[in-house]
Amino acid sequence: MNRKVTVVGGAGNVGATVARAIAIKELADVVIIDINAEKAAGIALDIFQSCPIDGSDTRLIGTTDYAATADSDVVVITSGVPRKPGMSRDDLLQVNYKIMQSVTEQVVKYSPNAVIVPVANPLDAMCQAVYRLSGFPRERVVGMAGVLDSARMRAFIAEELNVSVENVHAFVLGGHGDTMVPLPRYSTVAGIPLPQLVEMGLITQEKIDAICTRTANGGAEITKLVGTSAWYAPGAAAAEMVEAILKDKKKILPCSVFLQGEYGVSDQYLGVPVKLGKGGAEQVIEIKLTDEEHAALMKSAAAVRELTQVIGV
Ligand code: LAC
Repeated sequence: MNRKVTVVGGAGNVGATVARAIAIKELADVVIIDINAEKAAGIALDIFQSCPIDGSDTRLIGTTDYAATADSDVVVITSGVPRKPGMSRDDLLQVNYKIMQSVTEQVVKYSPNAVIVPVANPLDAMCQAVYRLSGFPRERVVGMAGVLDSARMRAFIAEELNVSVENVHAFVLGGHGDTMVPLPRYSTVAGIPLPQLVEMGLITQEKIDAICTRTANGGAEITKLVGTSAWYAPGAAAAEMVEAILKDKKKILPCSVFLQGEYGVSDQYLGVPVKLGKGGAEQVIEIKLTDEEHAALMKSAAAVRELTQVIGV
């Protein structure tokens, strides 16, 4: 295949899930980088052996050697320490920042033209770290969070209304943390915004509020149940972004991007809708927010800023 995706931390749960999704969809060849060389090789081999069943000609290798990643089109960074029950994403700040430093250096050295998709937590702060460390333009460092948070919200809405998830769109903006901003006004079922469904008597405002709260706590809910961070939905979400970039789909998805005045926020990563194509985050889409929604977004921006100031990025 003439396209290459590197998944750093690819022997971990999220990374392996991204690699497998890319293989199933036959999007690109995959290089799994991991500090655990044998596990990287083994996971790559296992996924490669699933390819005949899925009818995919994706080739995968697993290694510690970044030379194998040369000229990747997309680099997904899933490396980092995951959460334990009771931990917030913010508790991972210092340790994962150190990991971003060593990873970014290698990524820039071997794939200077790649689009980097950071996935490690605390997500928006890690994006900003990678952005600063890489020196890449903002278009080419675009973080995965909103796709995951929106998928969670979509799943909950579909379940509540007993409709296909394909009928449901949801928008979750802001930082990937407790302050994230689910937007019912921009979340739709078959094109009908949630507030209208309330008027139609198909769902109550209380139910919508509960779905928003559950979405914001979606990661913690799974961490508590499983004992570590989620991986299927985060992996699938990162793979959706990779697909949009590789296929130059111009797909509008909520992603973490470096804002330069949009939404009244400057010089900071935050989750907002962007157009994803081969150039990465090719355009930031500014949707109209009510005062209340905007205030919630500003609160979320402030929470991200607290973290970036700690690590000085
Ligand atoms: C979650 C972690 C991956 O939201 O941030 O599940």
